[in-house]
Amino acid sequence: MVYKAQAPGKLIICGEHAVVYGQPALAAAVNLYTTAVLTPAKTGFKLDVKTDIPVGSGMGSSASVSAASAMALLKLLQAKPSKELLNQIVYELEKGVHGTPSGIDNTTVVYGGFIKFQKADRVFNFNKLNLKKALPEFILINSGRPKETTKEMVTMVRDNLKRNAPIIEQIGEVAGKFISNFEKGRFNPELVRRNQRLLEKLRVVGKKAQEIVHQIEKAGGVAKICGAGGIKQGSGILLAYHPQIKKIKTLAQKNNWKYFYAELGVGGGE
Ligand code: MEV
Repeated sequence: MVYKAQAPGKLIICGEHAVVYGQPALAAAVNLYTTAVLTPAKTGFKLDVKTDIPVGSGMGSSASVSAASAMALLKLLQAKPSKELLNQIVYELEKGVHGTPSGIDNTTVVYGGFIKFQKADRVFNFNKLNLKKALPEFILINSGRPKETTKEMVTMVRDNLKRNAPIIEQIGEVAGKFISNFEKGRFNPELVRRNQRLLEKLRVVGKKAQEIVHQIEKAGGVAKICGAGGIKQGSGILLAYHPQIKKIKTLAQKNNWKYFYAELGVGGGE
């Protein structure tokens, strides 16, 4: 018997970093997948894991790899493993990799869709929002793989918490507004722009990513990082929007930026 499982990637539409401190955030499952195949063998079992997700680039590769692998194992142990159990396991694995994760990455890759997330003490409060139509088309641009890990970026923010606390609060306000608009079926690009500016103020966005965002804004669009970011080299994948999306595609081609389209709000791990 072979046990197969898959889990999507994720991106954070608004509220990253601040979500670690109890502020609200919105994330989406993305149609890039990790697949895990578990084959029992005489001396235990063999686990083959493959992922399409750019590794260490803000798209939840670690949560997705953990979710697909854990789901394959759970299938071996139980007939129908629950999402709740899978989420708890992936959260524990995320703690091993990232130290103090908020829980948004594991929750998004496990449950899928659009996840409104807020942590209260040790409890995850999250809702799955069914509002696919509220979001326009995006392009994802690769600003380069960050040299830093998510754990390092989160630690950097924490090490300067006195300076960063007001910025974290402002990110929470912007994210809260974005989410309440989104729940009414409205997409507000100005709030994406403000979120990105605050992330720059938080010092989690490198020079190259800032330059890309600046050019997109100059052309009338908006863009932001969608995970922990990075400052020494790349800052991972950027989520970019323009009312005429082709304009970003043209800019990307002109500047040799790597870009791709992705579907947001896909199903979770199974
Ligand atoms: C990483 O995808 C998102 C962060 O907010 C960390 C976390 O929430 O665990 C930077």
